Amino acid sequence: MASHMTDLLERTAPAYERVRRVIPAVEWPAFAEDVDAILALKRARNAVILAHNYQTPEIFNCVADIVGDSLALARQAMAVKADVIVLAGVHFMAETAKLLNPDKTVLIPDLAAGCSLADSITPADVDAMRARYPGVPVVTYVNTSAAVKARSDICCTSGNARAVVEALGAERVIMLPDEYLARNVAAETKVEIIPWRGHCEVHERFTPADIAEVREGHPGVVVLAHPECPPEVVAVADFSGSTAAMADYVADHQPSRVVLLTECAMSDNVAVLHPEVEFIRPCNLCPHMKRITLKAIRAALEENRHEVTIDPAVAAGARRAVERMLAI
Ligand code: 13P
Ligand code: SF4
Repeated sequence: MASHMTDLLERTAPAYERVRRVIPAVEWPAFAEDVDAILALKRARNAVILAHNYQTPEIFNCVADIVGDSLALARQAMAVKADVIVLAGVHFMAETAKLLNPDKTVLIPDLAAGCSLADSITPADVDAMRARYPGVPVVTYVNTSAAVKARSDICCTSGNARAVVEALGAERVIMLPDEYLARNVAAETKVEIIPWRGHCEVHERFTPADIAEVREGHPGVVVLAHPECPPEVVAVADFSGSTAAMADYVADHQPSRVVLLTECAMSDNVAVLHPEVEFIRPCNLCPHMKRITLKAIRAALEENRHEVTIDPAVAAGARRAVERMLAI
């Protein structure tokens, strides 16, 4: 038994080295067995794991092959050569990977890993917006179901929203479903934006008072806000951008103190790379992202669950909207 544990810790030592700043050594044995099993399963099944920036450090740093924001995951999904893709993230991300890889097996470790934005809008809502604003193009955030994407002209992410809106060359666009992302983009462009009323349950909770409190308690702190935060929060932040843009900001500017107004795991994952930066941590957990665990990823690979399928009647239209975005 002792020698099994010694061997296991030895085999997983390179993985632990990557997270030792955020996972105490005493906690590592609880992760090591699953990390070891997942690394072996990936080889056996010719699988890759795509992980969003909100995944916990042991997933993000120890078993993932490709990490990033929604845009990076979609771009990289196009180039995957493996037979199986495990999406460590939420359901719409797995659907996007499947749209771009119709012939591969795409697995989501927990089917209930949803998103409040995706839940805020239906295909019938998109049709109603089109009827209300005839001829106005529809830009849809990737945080939506494939059926909603299929009713859209083009998709966007938080990393390219303004570029997508401006690339259409229209005076007005409908931007669905995140009201705050739409209003934050509207503040940066001359294009008139017609928003929907969806909100991210994680980012809508940040307030200007939170920022004031952080600035008072931590002089000199640099405040980075995700564009799913309310516009009044973004207005008093020092920078706003996608999760990847926030990580790049820390890498490029090396602030001595920073707060990332987004999901909690982001700070852990960026902190791993920047031990000299102090991360102040008022953050909110995304319950959907946190459904994805090492145990769920292991079970996904062992039992081939849960396979993502997309109704062929919507897949072609949804793929067109995603590919149009990726071409920009
Ligand atoms: P990005 O990583 O694309 O910024 O998206 C944030 C998000 O909330 C994904 O669920
Ligand atoms: Fe959806 Fe918000 Fe969670 Fe992202 S953080 S998956 S937008 S609920």
